[in-house]
Amino acid sequence: MAPVDVPVALLGYGTVGAAVNRFLHENADDIERVTGYHLRVVKALVRDLSKERDFPAAAGILTTEFAEIADNSEITLVAEVMGGLDPTHDYILRLLRSGKPVVTANKQLLAQRGAELFSTAQGAGVQLRFEASVCAAIPVIKVLRESLVVTNVHQILGIVNGTTNYILTQMELGASYEEALSEAKRHGYAEMDPTEDVSGADAAAKMAILATVAFGSRVTLADVQFEGVEHITSAHVSAAKQMEMVIRLVGRATLVDDRYDVRVSPALVDRAHPLASVEGPFNAVMLQGDAIREITLEGPGAGGIETASAVIADMVSIIGTTGTGFLHNDACWRTLDQLPAGELCSPFYLQIAVDDRPGVLARVAERLAAHGVSVARLVQAQIEGGAILHVISHEAAYGAVDSALEEIGRLSESREIAAAFPVISRRGISELGWA
Ligand code: NAP
Ligand code: HSE
Repeated sequence: MAPVDVPVALLGYGTVGAAVNRFLHENADDIERVTGYHLRVVKALVRDLSKERDFPAAAGILTTEFAEIADNSEITLVAEVMGGLDPTHDYILRLLRSGKPVVTANKQLLAQRGAELFSTAQGAGVQLRFEASVCAAIPVIKVLRESLVVTNVHQILGIVNGTTNYILTQMELGASYEEALSEAKRHGYAEMDPTEDVSGADAAAKMAILATVAFGSRVTLADVQFEGVEHITSAHVSAAKQMEMVIRLVGRATLVDDRYDVRVSPALVDRAHPLASVEGPFNAVMLQGDAIREITLEGPGAGGIETASAVIADMVSIIGTTGTGFLHNDACWRTLDQLPAGELCSPFYLQIAVDDRPGVLARVAERLAAHGVSVARLVQAQIEGGAILHVISHEAAYGAVDSALEEIGRLSESREIAAAFPVISRRGISELGWA
């Protein structure tokens, strides 16, 4: 049987867009054999026609005129791989309203303005798919939306940013933060503005999308508390190593009594925990739910061809499921409250620089105890004229730890709160090593 011809357009022809076109050319036979479709890029929107491209498009494909895509009735669906909020938001709305399904890799747009986009798609009866917006090649959205549709997923733990994971693992090998970041940019993992990666904003947007799909309630970027890796030093990395742990930027979305908490921060991850072995630009997402107990998905989380694979998978899904029902709907169907800030609990690693004087340790311990933060492990290391306290606590509320640290920071003997990271371990805290 002759394959079905599917003319598609791209908004953007950069790292991801060029890789989508390359993939569709180089794997056309495989795609046709498996799906019965011949997907071909007929137009791609760019800013600069004269720019050199990784995989140059054929003559007449690139355009700087959005209307050449929006007004072309031959185009069956569009992949948005240009990024940014504006004019992207308006372009997608116009495409959806005109009945063109859209695939997007744009996590910031979805996490900040998803409600309007999904209600427009739903109103127009077309799909808006977004697999590539979270963890590139890992099919986590499809698994959550389709495979786990009847599973009450109540916790997601994930490494969802490739750039920062690459930076942290390169630092373990001795690279400086700056060297590792510039390598991540060179490989095409980083966003156009890499501050989104290193500040945690990229991971926060992805966790907002994952939480929305898993919990069925809209979580936006503004609902996610996030912190990035800009302040991680080699001293943090080597302190973690001494405790048989590694530092990872970890996203956590939790549902407690129908209230959600979503956050991203550097965490100390026990070497024996599955997230500790996620290295380089790889991502992993651990889903915990009633029926499934735990499912971990791991794979390439950034890069052109890796993201293109998810974009094309979404295109194929759209063609295969058009007119078939629930996938046209917004994944979000209810409104849950947010857990009050600070109520979520975790064990913590605290690194506190103090003057080395009699009674200091007691005063620090007293402030921790006053907020119900119980010390599980403690090591004191001498430094020039002072000491560093490495503390591991038992489970404590984030808010209690913040309040205790605020008071410790005000002690006259306190020099610096150098780290306060949640600890992720399946062994008891007291089982962790301390070289
Ligand atoms: P990129 O290399 O910077 O490419 C962006 C493309 O969009 C370029 O072709 C650019 O045109 C075009 N563009 C940007 N603004 C435009 C505008 N106002 N009008 C017309 N064209 C415009 O970015 P990318 O790495 O491919 O990322 C694209 C999207 O995928 C982003 O949302 C990103 O978050 C997401 N994503 C990326 C990755 C990754 O690993 N790179 C992974 C997952 C998701 P010119 O080429 O003419 O400048
Ligand atoms: N900049 C992103 C990352 C690309 O490093 O994970 C994938 O979304």
